[in-house]
Formats: sequence, structure tokens, C-alpha cells
Amino acid sequence: MKETIIILGANGQIGSELALALRNKFGKENVITSDIRPPQQLEEGDIFETANVLDKNLLKELFLKYKPTQIYLLAAMLSATGEQYPQKAWDLNMNGLLNVLDLAVELGIKKIFWPSSIAVFGPHSPKIDTPQYCVMDPNSIYGISKLSGERLVEYYHAKYGLDIRSIRYPGIISWKTAPGGGTTDYAVHIFFEALAKGAYTSFLSENTALPMMYMDDAVRATIELMDAPAENLTIRSSYNLAGISFTPTEIAQEIKKILPNFDMSYADGDPRQAIADSWPKSINDEYAQKDWNWKLEYNLEDLTREMIENLKTNKQQWVELLNLERKENLSAGPKWRSNSHV
Ligand code: SER
Repeated sequence: MKETIIILGANGQIGSELALALRNKFGKENVITSDIRPPQQLEEGDIFETANVLDKNLLKELFLKYKPTQIYLLAAMLSATGEQYPQKAWDLNMNGLLNVLDLAVELGIKKIFWPSSIAVFGPHSPKIDTPQYCVMDPNSIYGISKLSGERLVEYYHAKYGLDIRSIRYPGIISWKTAPGGGTTDYAVHIFFEALAKGAYTSFLSENTALPMMYMDDAVRATIELMDAPAENLTIRSSYNLAGISFTPTEIAQEIKKILPNFDMSYADGDPRQAIADSWPKSINDEYAQKDWNWKLEYNLEDLTREMIENLKTNKQQWVELLNLERKENLSAGPKWRSNSHV
């Protein structure tokens, strides 16, 4: 069957790399990227449409124009920014999802990918090897919206037969596009600053372990889940994915193996610490392994090497990114990006 794919929120950290992978897999003419703002650059043959997921009429026009068979909804406000704008985060994360689900039912679009997050867990969830099913009491607006979203997608699957698939992403580490407004962003900023300045001040404390994943694994997981036979999927809320768990100290040590002069320091009092403290330190992903054969490829050593090599060989790209981040006030300071994507 010929697939036509629309990616909403395609300019964000995951969207921009997923778009590349999906264009390679399905052909540029069959992948439409969309975001509230135009992308930095478009290559020949790329199709892009400006759209706000909160504008249901416009979204409907977009879906009627392209008649997608698959939608990837990646537009969202992440955990740290969400704490600055809780109403906006709730509105974007919930009503954006509801608009897509309702239009999918109305227009008969069956297959949807929607990302959830480790943020669905909370202070009373088990912290180590957090299972798929356990107490979930998220206390960030982002986590609350993602857990509510999980309930909704399972409901729309059961009630309307939508084939919605979802992953609880850990923190995603990538070099092509910066993350926007997450609690796990330190593990990306650290590489940019290590190469630019030889030093980094972490906004999370030394021993704050969090689950993370290299972008290539995250993109591959998404595509493998979307390719899996529907009858194999036993989870219609969202799949746990473990990734790799490490602390700021551990990633700094790994960086020092390649950049021996790298200097790591820690700043107290950042509000993102409380968010991190409420999340799991490590995750159990046996359902993903069993249902769709999930297997992680990159460990901490691999991703550190990949990040440093890629950032070194694509220096121009990340210097521009860093400048842009500074301009928009996105770096590790107290201000976070106000309108970002997963
Ligand atoms: N990376 C996200 C965040 O930190 C978690 O899904 O908000």
C-alpha cells in the first residue's frame, strides 16, 4: 500500500531527524512536514506546510489536501517550558492531540504515531527498572498531559479502532537539532559546550540518573514500532523504552576520555532538578522487546563518541545552532524556549 505521511511538529528535535528517515524510507513526495514555523532550510523536493495543531480547521484542510495514511504528531511543549506556561502546555499537548484524533476518526485516517515520555511517572512510581504498569502520579504539567494523552490514545484505539502507536521516550541526545525546553537537555548541551568552551555547568546535580537515548536509536525504535504487525502490539497506551541510564558525572567522565581537559561543574537551585527527581532513574522495556523485538544499539560510550565526532565534522552547523540558541536565550540558563517540540 502506498503511504502518505504527515509529520506535525516536524522542526523539533525528533521531528527533523524522523522526517529525514521517513523521506528515505517512503520517498520525499510521500512525506509532508509541517510546523508552526517554517524550517531553517528545505532541500529540493521536500514538501512543507505551515500549520498550528491547535487550528483544527487548518489541520482538516491539510489532511483533506494530502489524504495522509499516517500521521506523526510531534508538536508539544516539553517539561521545563511547560512549568513556565502550564496552561499553554496543557492546551497544546491535549487539544493538539484531540484535534488530530477527532479528525482521524472523521476522515478515516487509521495510523498515528504520538510520543509519550518518561515524564508520565511520578514520585511514587518505582525509581529503578520502572515497570510498564505501576503507580503513575506525574507532577509536572508535561507529565500530566502525557499521561492523559496515553489514556486518550488507548481509548480512541478501543472505541474507534484507530491504530495509534506510542513510545515513552527517554531523554533524546542528538547533534543535528537542539532539544527545546526539556529537563534532559543538559545531556545535549554538555557536548556543544564541551567542544565550544571545554567546560559545562550542569543544571542537574552530579548523581541525578535519568534514562536517555541516542537519536538514531529513537528514530529506529519509532519506525520499527510503526512497522510492527498490529496484532503483536499488546500495549496501546505507550511503550516503555529503557535507553541507557547515566548521571551528569558519568557522562562527564565519558567525555573526558575523549577530551581530557573537559571541565564539569554543577549549579544548584535550578527548578529542573525537582522535575528530574520525580522521574525514574532506569526503565524496564520488556514489553517492547517482546512485542516488536526492540533492541538498543548505542550505549553511553557509543553515543559520546558519535556526538563528539559528528559535532567536530559538522562544526559550522552547530556553531550556527549555538548562536541561534544564545540569540533565543535557549542555553542552560534560567530561560527556556517557549514554543518547542518533542
Ligand atoms: N526530554 C523530555 C523532557 O525533558 C522528556 O520527555 O522534557
